[in-house]
Amino acid sequence: MSYLSTLSSWKKLQTHKYELQSIVTKDLFSFDQERFQRFSFVCHDVLVDYSKNKITQETMALFECLAQELSLDKKIKDLFKGATVNFTEKRPALHMALRSPQAKKKMVDGENITALIKQTKEKMAAISRAIQAGEYLGATAKPINTIINLGIGGSDLGPKMVLSALKPYAKEGLNYAFVSNVDGQALENALAQADPERTLFIISSKSFTTQETLENAKSARLWLKQALNRDDLNQHFIAVTSHVDKACAFGIDEQSILPMWDWVGGRFSLWSAIGLIIAIVLGFDHFSALLEGAHAMDEHFEKTPMRENVPVLSAFINVWNQHFFGATSHAILPYSESLHQFTEHLQQMSMESLGKSVNREGASVDQYRTGPVIWGGAGTNGQHSFHQWLHQGRGRFHCDFILSKTTSSCFDHHAVLLSHGLAQSQALMLGRSQAQASAALEQKGLSAKEAELLAPHLAMPGDRASTSIILPELSPFYLGFLIAWYEHTVFVQSVIWDINAFDQWGVELGKQLASTLLPALKQNKTVDADASTLGLIDFLNQ
Ligand code: F6P
Repeated sequence: MSYLSTLSSWKKLQTHKYELQSIVTKDLFSFDQERFQRFSFVCHDVLVDYSKNKITQETMALFECLAQELSLDKKIKDLFKGATVNFTEKRPALHMALRSPQAKKKMVDGENITALIKQTKEKMAAISRAIQAGEYLGATAKPINTIINLGIGGSDLGPKMVLSALKPYAKEGLNYAFVSNVDGQALENALAQADPERTLFIISSKSFTTQETLENAKSARLWLKQALNRDDLNQHFIAVTSHVDKACAFGIDEQSILPMWDWVGGRFSLWSAIGLIIAIVLGFDHFSALLEGAHAMDEHFEKTPMRENVPVLSAFINVWNQHFFGATSHAILPYSESLHQFTEHLQQMSMESLGKSVNREGASVDQYRTGPVIWGGAGTNGQHSFHQWLHQGRGRFHCDFILSKTTSSCFDHHAVLLSHGLAQSQALMLGRSQAQASAALEQKGLSAKEAELLAPHLAMPGDRASTSIILPELSPFYLGFLIAWYEHTVFVQSVIWDINAFDQWGVELGKQLASTLLPALKQNKTVDADASTLGLIDFLNQ
């Protein structure tokens, strides 16, 4: 039996679910005229509406009991205090310290991290201001105007998503690109637009051992060397890493290395010097506003009672839909072109954190499913693609709609965009019965017989759960707020499932196996592998 099912609140949630399962969510609105007000919250002018989920006041009360039984309040405090939440790697997870304005000393492993963060931010500010002012010169004394980030996973996805979300804030005349894939085509695509004399590479790698990033960095250096016909390329490389020694050994000038630390997980690192490209392109003030927004969410998460704490409620809603209503995936649907990469960032943040099978004691958690599949994409594009599956498919999911009240676009499309976002969540909840479909067909002029035959194909079951989030604007502050919200939601889910949200051992085996297979592909050497893999190698080598 899982520890969750021993909790009295969990048992009550199970019974409560049986009471609710025959009720359709749309009817809950007729039973309770105040439902929207009751289940929506405004926090820093951001609205979140949970009312289209199958919940009642009793569900919320049981969530609160569950939070108490899990000692969630204490676990949140422990996280902020720097407890060893990443127990397999014996580390705290203190990315919140990166966005805290507090000048108070905070010690980790005998180091005052407040001072380290301050020094690093000063360096980031100086670099970004110099580049924005055209004063950061390359080896041939030309101002840098192109920044290429070489990094993968958390050293790529967060900054890439932020820059695509905040394009209107980018400094005009600065070009940037992200190269993550070790497929040489990715680097080639980025270099096609770049002037070697004016290009700065940021090698972003916490470990400075990631093969993809190092291969790209080596090729970038070769490209520069050949193009500029010189060896003194220091001005063209900055490294961000927690292994300064390795970056030095690679040939990066120590002055051009910005630190990060073990207490910052890769997928939570955009707030650190991994976000240097954000600071350069948007300017340090906008980078600071991003941190301020995340800090506002940190404060909310740490200090707000469970019943109004939005990351806590989001996590409970996610677990409620997953455990009690069978959702196996969580679709993230931003109705914002600017947020089209948000889902991809969240995919790493959530799936690398919650894709675990054992609890804190190392015992299997096979009694319940842990992290869901995170997927989705920008509305309205999804409506012309996978929304068919959402409306009439047999898969179980729940989804988040993310909207912005305002837009920076000069075209007058925003009301159209918003109408689609709202209509999709409405359609998912309301559905359409066969009788309704049949009546609509008859109104269109079909005979009763034809309508009856066609109606089953047009009927939609509805009663699909969704949460809507409305930001006042897509600014650095609110983007920071939103990202931190999802980070904390992921943490709360890990507490509920009793798993470690901050390690990622599952990615290691593939890396090791790739290194054993490489000699077979590069030098035609014999390697030890299963028959399928050997057959594939053989075919590739022919
Ligand atoms: O392989 C997974 C991973 O370790 C991620 O967790 C991390 O964000 C990414 O690789 C990149 O790692 P690094 O910054 O050390 O190059």
